[in-house]
Amino acid sequence: MFKMKVYLDNAATSYPKPDCVIKAMSDYFKNIGANCGRSAYKSAQETSRLVFETRENIAKLIGAKDSSRVVFTANATEGLNTAILGSVKEGDEVITTSMEHNSVMRPLRFLEKEGKIRLEVVKCSEKGELDPDDIKKKITKKTKLVVCTSASNVVGTIMPIREVGKIAKERGVLFLVDAAQTIGNLPIDVKKDNIDMLAFSGHKGLMGPQGTGCLYVGEGENPIPLKFGGTGSKSECEFLPEFLPDKYESGTLNTIGIIGLGAGVDFVLKEGVEAIKEKNQKLTKYLLDELKKIDNVTIYGVRDCRKQTAVVSFNVKGKRPSEVGEMLDKNYNIAVRCGLHCSPIAHKTMGTFPEGTIRVSTGWFNTRKEVEYFGLRIFQQSWITIPR
Ligand SMILES: Cc1ncc(COP(=O)(O)O)c(C=O)c1O
Repeated sequence: MFKMKVYLDNAATSYPKPDCVIKAMSDYFKNIGANCGRSAYKSAQETSRLVFETRENIAKLIGAKDSSRVVFTANATEGLNTAILGSVKEGDEVITTSMEHNSVMRPLRFLEKEGKIRLEVVKCSEKGELDPDDIKKKITKKTKLVVCTSASNVVGTIMPIREVGKIAKERGVLFLVDAAQTIGNLPIDVKKDNIDMLAFSGHKGLMGPQGTGCLYVGEGENPIPLKFGGTGSKSECEFLPEFLPDKYESGTLNTIGIIGLGAGVDFVLKEGVEAIKEKNQKLTKYLLDELKKIDNVTIYGVRDCRKQTAVVSFNVKGKRPSEVGEMLDKNYNIAVRCGLHCSPIAHKTMGTFPEGTIRVSTGWFNTRKEVEYFGLRIFQQSWITIPR
């Protein structure tokens, strides 16, 4: 019935996945199928090799010297929870920003409610911009941790991670970055950016399947794990091994997912993060230009493709975001996300709470033609006033 199916929700999860991801997962499932790190037979060794290669390539992507400090998780949320819940002690102070996702806010608010920590939330501008000096001003002798997203999942605003990392290092405070929105889309370097812990999804910019993610645990960092159990190592001992990655990888891994993620990371490394960034910027500029033409549309955020990721949030005057989303899906087979995008605090910062926004996020496989198709459908609606 529809000529085109247009997926514009890549900030939630990337789609489609590259063919190499599907092939790697299918090859593993059909021909290998064993667990990793548990046995010495050939297919178990082959699985361990594939998982190790994925770890090595992720370490390369983020500038980590030691790949054993790259821990596989189920998603960015698990990595963030491990880093936050495992690092703070009673009486610590934690600083974060007013543009965070609930995967940061909820563990922090939980600790605050329990009376364990004092939480300082630094207010960003209405466009989602963070002034690093505002973080600096809030650091006290009791500050243990600064947690910051690398880019807003609501409006795409890119955060000054390197500047915040420098401040945290100078003041001897741990720095945790939520790179869910930028990994694979923007360069990141845990050493140059002074990042102590880095959490990210494997299913967004890294093109892997859902159920994958990573936590990089920097040298000398030692958060208490979320899970305790079998690791296939030191099995004679009733205590969890202290060495990484085993300390944070109890239980059978999502092996097929990690192998798919490995193929996704290969794809990203081959295309190159700079090339991906450039393509994102071109499509975002085009998308912003299309929306800027329309009178009744309010675009949020910095509205500048060099200062944001491939995420654009907008509203149509007099319409609820869900009405617009439903119209796009039902009438034109266009998938966008509507509402609060799991970040109520970002909407409070932007003034779009509680209705939220319509979020359009392009990915590597989107084309200019698809963005044009989307722009035209918004443009053509009777509820839009077309400027003359
Ligand atoms: C900024 C940000 N942080 C964390 C997450 C959580 O990621 P995951 O669903 O992989 O746990 C998301 C997901 O959309 C996100 O956009």
